[in-house]
Amino acid sequence: MTAPLRIAVLASGRGSNLAALLTARECGGLAIQPTLVASDKADAGALRLAEAAGVPTLALNPRSYPSRRDFDLDLFARIADSGAELIVLAGYMRILDGGALQPWVGRMINIHPSLLPKYRGLHTHRRALEAGDAEHGASVHYVTAELDGGPVIAQARISVMPNDDEDTLAQRLLAHEHRLLPAVVGCIAEGRLGLAGADTVLFDGAALTAPLRLLEGQLHPHP
Ligand code: GRF
Repeated sequence: MTAPLRIAVLASGRGSNLAALLTARECGGLAIQPTLVASDKADAGALRLAEAAGVPTLALNPRSYPSRRDFDLDLFARIADSGAELIVLAGYMRILDGGALQPWVGRMINIHPSLLPKYRGLHTHRRALEAGDAEHGASVHYVTAELDGGPVIAQARISVMPNDDEDTLAQRLLAHEHRLLPAVVGCIAEGRLGLAGADTVLFDGAALTAPLRLLEGQLHPHP
């Protein structure tokens, strides 16, 4: 058996995606070892969840640093010190400095609540509703200097219901996020996923031409 993948998780909020990863490790055999959960918000629920699970935590205050780059360089240095091999952004709401993140390209992923490249940034559920979309979803992508713009690895799709509002849509999608993120992390842990060059996602050694789809908890290449 290979060693579990050492991951650091960055989160600014409640941490339900972190909880999904921890649950998948406890109950679903997800081969990860969380080395650190870090936040830019000392009161983030994610930090409390991590503490309860016995995972080391770190809260850094952006206002204690002269610049975004200084903050991110310190953050990434501490993540590296933790021994993490992969960084998972799970509701991390702070924009990262493009230069500071460069050494982690290909080793850092983010979960975003839209079918990227649609709706980068904030208010994705509202924007999907305003556009009258029939489908909505979540994406996990490699992080690059472009906000929510890195190569997409996998997506979960849901139908938009006629009576959906922002809250119902967000809530229904979240349940799918909680399966999507552990599925992607699991494939990375198994060595089945990787980034080649600037924008080619490799799955089982083959270049993806479209994001993987989450179907019944498993990732599948788009037919
Ligand atoms: C999720 O919707 C995620 O896609 C987005 O931020 C939210 C975080 O939720 N990036 P949680 O903190 O994991 O509960």
